[in-house]
Amino acid sequence: MLKLPGLIDPHVHLREPGATHKEDYDSGTSAALAGGITLVLSMPNTRPPIFDAETLDLALNAAKQKARCDYAQFLGAGPNNGDWNKNRDLPPRAAGLKMYLDSTFGELRLDDMTLWMPHFQTFPKNMPVVAHSESRSMASAILFAAIYDRPVHIAHISLKEEVLLIKAAKERGIKVTCEVCPHHLFLTAPSPLHPSPSGRGDGGEGRLEVRPRLATQEDVDSLWKNLDVIDCFATDHAPHTVEEKDADNPPPGFPGLETILPLLLTAVSEKRLTLDTLIEKMYTNPKRIFNLPDQPETWVEVDEDAIYEIKAADQFTRCGWTPFEGWKVKGKVRKVILRGQTAFEDGRILVPVGYGRDIRQEKS
Ligand code: DOR
Ligand code: ZN
Repeated sequence: MLKLPGLIDPHVHLREPGATHKEDYDSGTSAALAGGITLVLSMPNTRPPIFDAETLDLALNAAKQKARCDYAQFLGAGPNNGDWNKNRDLPPRAAGLKMYLDSTFGELRLDDMTLWMPHFQTFPKNMPVVAHSESRSMASAILFAAIYDRPVHIAHISLKEEVLLIKAAKERGIKVTCEVCPHHLFLTAPSPLHPSPSGRGDGGEGRLEVRPRLATQEDVDSLWKNLDVIDCFATDHAPHTVEEKDADNPPPGFPGLETILPLLLTAVSEKRLTLDTLIEKMYTNPKRIFNLPDQPETWVEVDEDAIYEIKAADQFTRCGWTPFEGWKVKGKVRKVILRGQTAFEDGRILVPVGYGRDIRQEKS
């Protein structure tokens, strides 16, 4: 039995408030525990989006009642809430600030760079700012970090040009960190030679929609080659129901909480990465970058040798599908201990709703 620290996922969408038919704090944090994750940072592109005291309370009240693992909630950067000097009490209650610099699911998008400026200027410099930014907008976000002399964390990098630019920025001492998601490490965009990314029964094209989009084999190879530039593994767990994914105008997003660890442990068993690297990117680095507290008496027990197939039917997420259906993986979460209690064991969640704690609460 392999013992890991309680893992951290700094990027999940739990859909509460507003779209609890896709996921809520109960189902999403159950999925986290089943995946060996004891702490999640929850994104603000909900309905309504989380961008002020009232909406933050809405999300945190739901979380307080329903979460089974520990959590913190991001604030969203909108066009009208850029002056954080007016709201100094809010950032310490949140995971950090999420800025949507490119279009994706939900209403939070800052088109104009004049709208980025106040957020970079006034959000507390000791709190995380995360940018959804792709390609050239990512380069702009890094320039903003340099100009305003504050750290920025780039969400879900997917392209060769992105990882190479982040490498160069780090070499110059710019305060940039980044994460990569399993789907950008294990899947590629459909091409004439490879019509479906996995070739293993994904269903319709709508299932492949995700932002950032799946990229080319060259991009994927470059992410693997430059793993040392990448600070964190994150799921970007973005559940949409299988009916929504298979209908017209499918929303972008993949579930990921229950597949990240088996996929990466399989890569460890294939010697594509080391266990130390996995722990660094799923525990040590996110803990440091997002300034997260210790979770005492918390660990995960994994059967390293268990070989099995990923099946949506076994998952706790409410969305009912996975892009990795049928993948054979090696490494199964057997038990999760969270703050001294057995929270998950052999497929069963053993802590009640409300057990999860807001890790920023003591600061509010
Ligand atoms: O594919 C995505 N889905 N990318 C995002 O940035 C948002 C997410 C969602 O909320 O569905
Ligand atoms: Zn996301």
